[in-house]
Amino acid sequence: MAADYTIRNATIIDGSGREGFPGDVSIDGDVMAAVGEGLDAAVEIDGQGMVVAPGFIDTHSHDDGAFVRYPGMEFKLAQGVTTDVSGNCGFSAAPNVPGETPPGGGALRFPGPWHDLAEYFDACLAEKPAINNLMLIGHNTVRGWVMGNEQREATAAELAQMRAHIERGMEQGACGFSTGLIYEPGRYSDTSEVTALAGVAGQYGGIYATHMRNEGDYLLESVDEALGIGRAAGCGVHISHHKASGPKNHGRCRESLALIDRAVDEGHDVTLDVYPYIAGSGPMHQYFRLDNIGLELAEAIRIASCPDRREWEGRMLSDIAEAEGLSLEDAVREAITGPRGKETICIQFTMHEDDVETNLQHPRVMVGSDGIPNLNGAPHPRLYGTFPRVLGNYVRERGVLPLTEAIRKMTSLPCERFGIPDRGYVREGLVADLVVFDPREVIDLATWDEPKREPAGIRKVFVSGALAYDDGEHTGAGTGKMLRYRAG
Ligand code: ZN
Ligand code: CU
Repeated sequence: MAADYTIRNATIIDGSGREGFPGDVSIDGDVMAAVGEGLDAAVEIDGQGMVVAPGFIDTHSHDDGAFVRYPGMEFKLAQGVTTDVSGNCGFSAAPNVPGETPPGGGALRFPGPWHDLAEYFDACLAEKPAINNLMLIGHNTVRGWVMGNEQREATAAELAQMRAHIERGMEQGACGFSTGLIYEPGRYSDTSEVTALAGVAGQYGGIYATHMRNEGDYLLESVDEALGIGRAAGCGVHISHHKASGPKNHGRCRESLALIDRAVDEGHDVTLDVYPYIAGSGPMHQYFRLDNIGLELAEAIRIASCPDRREWEGRMLSDIAEAEGLSLEDAVREAITGPRGKETICIQFTMHEDDVETNLQHPRVMVGSDGIPNLNGAPHPRLYGTFPRVLGNYVRERGVLPLTEAIRKMTSLPCERFGIPDRGYVREGLVADLVVFDPREVIDLATWDEPKREPAGIRKVFVSGALAYDDGEHTGAGTGKMLRYRAG
């Protein structure tokens, strides 16, 4: 039997966490036809010195709109990412009302002609995306469509409508329900509303993924709320971009993880993700109250994109204020209240490196970029750099975690968590989503000043058996799939 591709004499790191071993990997059609001893193949690839691993899963992405806008998904593919989990932080492309704008979210809105998840998937597939997509249904999106920006409890009728949206999404293949409880309009909901809605995901064996109500002074209370919701709703809990925000909370990820470890010991099903940076990023207007502008946060902000003031992109707000003779408060106001103020995205330097390392060392923490694919401005470099940064900076240069463990966090762990049973390991018969990289060279090149640089050391990426990325070149294979959740 002959295969399409055989990668020869590589180190196979199979995703399970076990040590790498020398061998070949053969790809035939869209699956791995042999692992260990390769088959004769139409294309032979010399893998000497290279690692072959399962394609990486970006457990926390906001690429709902990018699958339609930038179907080449270069910023992810070049990192070795073959699957995104989108619909995070409570914002999802489905449900949707074509031609209308839901309140809140600003830059995390995903306008399009579809109504539900199935139609959204069709719209994505029509663009022949480079990588796979798995979706969460977002609370902010659902609440926005049903209740607008109402700052009150949901009525029974509204709750029923929201449940119906989530039910439909789960029927159509969503892996769960996401919240962004710091954001409008989700922050106007109480715990019982979120529990009722997460319960719908629970009925389908789906998960509850949460950007918690607070990631700073009330981190532990927020973890408690998330665990309680999972318990009452009967679903696994996935905590998004686990962090301890603000100088006086630095170091507290340890306490938070201890709380989670206790819950796991008691039988709860909890996982998390983290991005390897000390700055976050999101829609700026969501972080400020105009009547009481937080100066500590304003000091820590850099503008990623600002359609009203393009010349502000890539600069610290404090520098902008000084150069323009504005107070810091006025600079905040100017950034978020213009005609397109809700589209302003900021980057906030609020975390500590120790917490990033603590997270990366915890066995239940996966990797998620949280990248915002707004390519016009100067996006947070995590969009282009997350996975190679973990492998190059945290694994090779600093020894924060072993390579095999980092790869497990990027592959089998998320595939088990997010219901992707045919991917996540290098194993005969599984889908050939694979990355070939040089472990001595792999590194992120995206920086705060040059955030849109593709990484080094990623040699080849296969998506469903097709060579999608080849030594710096995007081949346009377009073999990405819309994945349907399969409860484990
Ligand atoms: Zn978030
Ligand atoms: Cu997010």
